[in-house]
Order: sequence, then C-alpha cells, then structure tokens
Amino acid sequence: MAASASSLLAAAASSSCAAISPRIPRGAPAAASVPSPSHHSCPSLRASPARRHQSRFVASVAPTMQPPAESRVSTVVDVDLGDRSYPIYIGAGLLDEPDLLQRHVHGKRVLVVTNTTVAPLYLEKVTWALTHNNRNVSVESVILPDGEKYKDMDTLMKVFDKAVESRLDRRCTFVALGGGVIGDMCGFAAAAFLRGVNFIQIPTTLMAQVDSSVGGKTGINHPLGKNLIGAFYQPQCVLIDTDTLNTLPDRELASGIAEVVKYGLIRDAPFFEWQEKNMSALLAREPSALAYAIKRSCENKAEVVAQDEKESGLRATLNLGHTFGHAIETGLGYGAWFHGEAIAAGTVNHLNISIPPIRFS
Ligand SMILES: NC(=O)c1ccc[n+]([C@@H]2O[C@H](COP(=O)([O-])OP(=O)(O)OC[C@H]3O[C@@H](n4cnc5c(N)ncnc54)[C@H](O)[C@@H]3O)[C@@H](O)[C@H]2O)c1
Repeated sequence: MAASASSLLAAAASSSCAAISPRIPRGAPAAASVPSPSHHSCPSLRASPARRHQSRFVASVAPTMQPPAESRVSTVVDVDLGDRSYPIYIGAGLLDEPDLLQRHVHGKRVLVVTNTTVAPLYLEKVTWALTHNNRNVSVESVILPDGEKYKDMDTLMKVFDKAVESRLDRRCTFVALGGGVIGDMCGFAAAAFLRGVNFIQIPTTLMAQVDSSVGGKTGINHPLGKNLIGAFYQPQCVLIDTDTLNTLPDRELASGIAEVVKYGLIRDAPFFEWQEKNMSALLAREPSALAYAIKRSCENKAEVVAQDEKESGLRATLNLGHTFGHAIETGLGYGAWFHGEAIAAGTVNHLNISIPPIRFS
C-alpha cells in the first residue's frame, strides 16, 4: 500500500521538484498525469518497499439541515459539534443560490475577505448572492495580496483595519472567499475581531474544499514556523461550489489531492482503493469524481473533528506528513512549494521512516 500511496501522492506533488526552480511561476499548469514512482525524478517521492497496514472505514456522516428540494446541493455533510455544529454544502452552482448563504449571515453587515486572484473571479458573484432580494445586508470587502508568504501578521492587520474603518460591530459576518490561506486568515480574524464574530467559509481550491475550510483551525504563519499563531474557531457553514474549481490551475488542483490521499491512508481503505482507480479522472476534473472525492474527504474530516475538535489525540492523524511538510515549507520559504506538494513529499518520507510499519486502526 505504501508504494501505491507514493504513486498517488506523486500525482499531488507532480510539480514539487520543479517548484523550487525560480523559472516556474506559482500557478503554472502541470501535466495532468500520474507519474509512476519508479520514473519520478524527485528523490523524496520514492517509496520504500510496500508495507502492509490496516485501515478503518467509518460510516459516513448523516446529513442534516437540508436545502430546498429544488436546490443544486448534492450533499450536505454535518460537522457535529453540539451547539457549534454546522453544515458543509457541496454541489455545482451553489453561488447561484442566495438563500444558502443568506440563511447563515448574522446581522446586516458582511465583510468578504479575499485576494487579488480570487476577487476578479468570484467577488461580484458572492456579493450578489449575499444581497440578492436582501436589501438589509451591506457588503464590504478587503482584497489581500495572494500567496502563502502573506499569511502573516501584517496582512492580517489589513482585515482588522477594514473592519474597524467600516465600523463593523459584533453582529457582523466575515466571509472567507478563496483557498486555504484566505480561509485560515479570515477565520483567525473572525475569532479575534471584537472577541469573535460570525464566520462563513467559501473555499475555492481543492485543498480548501477537502480540508482547510472544515474543522475550525485558523491562523497565520510565524517566520520560524507554519501556523504557529491561531485559534480553533468554527464557521457557521462551509459552502463548496465545485464550479469554482473550473478556474483553478492544474498544479493547484494536484496539490489539493495530497490531502485526499491522506484520508484514504489514515482511516478509509475503500476510499483509498477508489482513488487508485480514479486518480486519472480526478486529475482530468471529471465532475462526478471530484464531487465524490470532496464529499468523502469532508465526511472523514467531519468525523474526526467531531470526536476530537481541539486535537488532544485522534485529530493528530490528520497531520500525517505535516511535520516534514511544514519543515519543507518553512525551510524553503513560504510559497516555494505549494502546501499540498510539501505534504505529499512529507507523507512519503513519513511512510519511508516508519519502523515498525505504520498500523492505522
Ligand atoms: N486550517 C486547516 O485545517 C488547514 C488544512 C490544510 C491546509 N491549510 C492551509 O491552507 C493553505 C494552503 O491552501 P491552498 O492550497 O488552497 O493555497 P492558497 O490559498 O494559496 O490557494 C492557492 C492559489 O490558488 C488561487 N486560487 C484560489 N481559488 C482559485 C480559483 N477558484 N481559481 C483560480 N485560482 C484560485 C489562490 O489565489 C492561490 O494563488 C496553507 O496555508 C495551509 O497551511 C489549513
């Protein structure tokens, strides 16, 4: 299984060795193929001989809070955290359904946090969804510079500057519109502004849709370490419009697959087997394959988070490969490798040094 994992993870990190080359700009498309580990030129992605381990499959989360019958929502996954429970809506065209967003807005003021890449693509649409037939709500936005290197205190302060200048009060809602960087920063800002305001996640990368938007980990990087400053702070809902992936560059899509493979490895053997058969379809952006991968990833994450919200034990399994991965990101400089690429390489390194062989139960 380890050799197979390396093969799948190689898909996620297909550009990671090239990523350290300054000639390849961030966001440059990568070939949509699944390289064989034996042919892969990146040493960190070569697996040691196959090792056997057991995986545990846990039944999917029961849907709650259903959307209207005519809705395009294909799946609702509930993150079960008592009075902080929330739905994850998954489907194509969900930004065309204003009611889904509006039902989770508190108060009359909304601050959308996004970046220079995502704003031209989706800010107008999200603003429409928030305000359509809803004159009571006014929307402000703050557009941050794009990149992991801006996931820092200086950039976070721009969110607070905008919120204070706009005189937002405690009954406002922050909306994260973007990938994992925006989601983590907006969530942390929501946790800290006026000691906590309402917060909605609209993830637009595969990484954010399968992982970072779910579970309430928010924060920023410190120059000496990733995600060292932050808070556990749950959103009111996560709205995953899978159509937003249509504009995502191939390399970013592949990066998100690292976390999909992770769920198969840590707890969901049938999902891992499905990935072995469907990796080409995922990389080719086949809608049904993407939708299933997002759904199953969210279900797995929701189940883990519901059992161990603040990472006192089980939730640490979600960090498979992250010790190495974060070291790569911090050591090379934030943004040199994409997060998912570093996690893919980190996971293979983890498998290689696991003695005795990893057993997941
Ligand atoms: N909180 C958590 O539990 C958690 C889990 C996993 C990862 N993370 C964090 O997430 C971050 C990585 O997230 P990421 O991979 O999404 O990176 P990212 O947020 O930097 O997004 C990747 C790139 O895609 C662009 N982009 C976003 N949506 C797009 C779209 N629809 N079309 C075109 N371009 C688009 C972004 O502007 C950016 O250039 C890291 O900081 C990592 O630490 C957090």
